[in-house]
Amino acid sequence: MATVEKGRARRRKRPAQGRGARAPSPVCITINGRQHTFLPGRDIAPNMTLAYLLREGVGLTGLKVSCDEGACGACTVLMDGRAVLSCMILAVEAGGHEVTTIEGLPADDPVIEAFAGQCGPGYGTALQCGYCTPGFVMSSVALLGENPSPTLEEVKEALSGNICRCGCYAGIAQAVLHASEKIAARGGAR
Ligand code: FES
Ligand code: FES
Repeated sequence: MATVEKGRARRRKRPAQGRGARAPSPVCITINGRQHTFLPGRDIAPNMTLAYLLREGVGLTGLKVSCDEGACGACTVLMDGRAVLSCMILAVEAGGHEVTTIEGLPADDPVIEAFAGQCGPGYGTALQCGYCTPGFVMSSVALLGENPSPTLEEVKEALSGNICRCGCYAGIAQAVLHASEKIAARGGAR
C-alpha cells in the first residue's frame, strides 16, 4: 500500500489568452488550517510547484526539495490527509484542498515525539542530518492516519518512496512503530 501519490506533470503550456479572456480566478488553499488566497500571475505562475509556493511564497521551509523530480520524498506534505509529493504537484492544483506541512503538526504529535526519541539499541536513531525527516514524518502521519497499527512490513512499504541518505531506515521504521504504540496509548487519538 503506497501512501505517496505522484502528481501530474509539473510543467504545462500557458493557455493562450485572447482578447476578452477573463482574469484567472484566485486560488484558495487551506494551509495548516489557515486559508490563503493566491492570485495567478501575481502570486502563482502556471508552472509553479506546490513545493515552491509553500517554501518561497508562504515561508514554510520544513519541507525540503532535494531531487525536485518525485524520486526522494523529501518534499512530502499532506493534501486532504494523504501524502503527496509537493514537487510534483502544481500550486494551482492545490486550489480547494487542505494542505498540511510539518509546521502544521502539534509539538506533541506522536510521530514527531517518536522520531525525536528514537534510540533503540540495534536500530539506531531515526535521523542524523535530518534533511529527509520532514518527508518521512509526513509519510508516517499519513500511514498512521489510514492504518494506526501497521506491521513492520506495512511501514516499510508505506515509506518506500522516501530516501534517507544517512541510512537511518531501521531507526525510522522503529520510530513509526513506537508512534503507533503512542497513538494506541492515547486511546487512538493523535
Ligand atoms: S524533492 Fe520531491 S520527491 Fe524529491
Ligand atoms: S537523516 Fe540524513 S538524509 Fe535522512
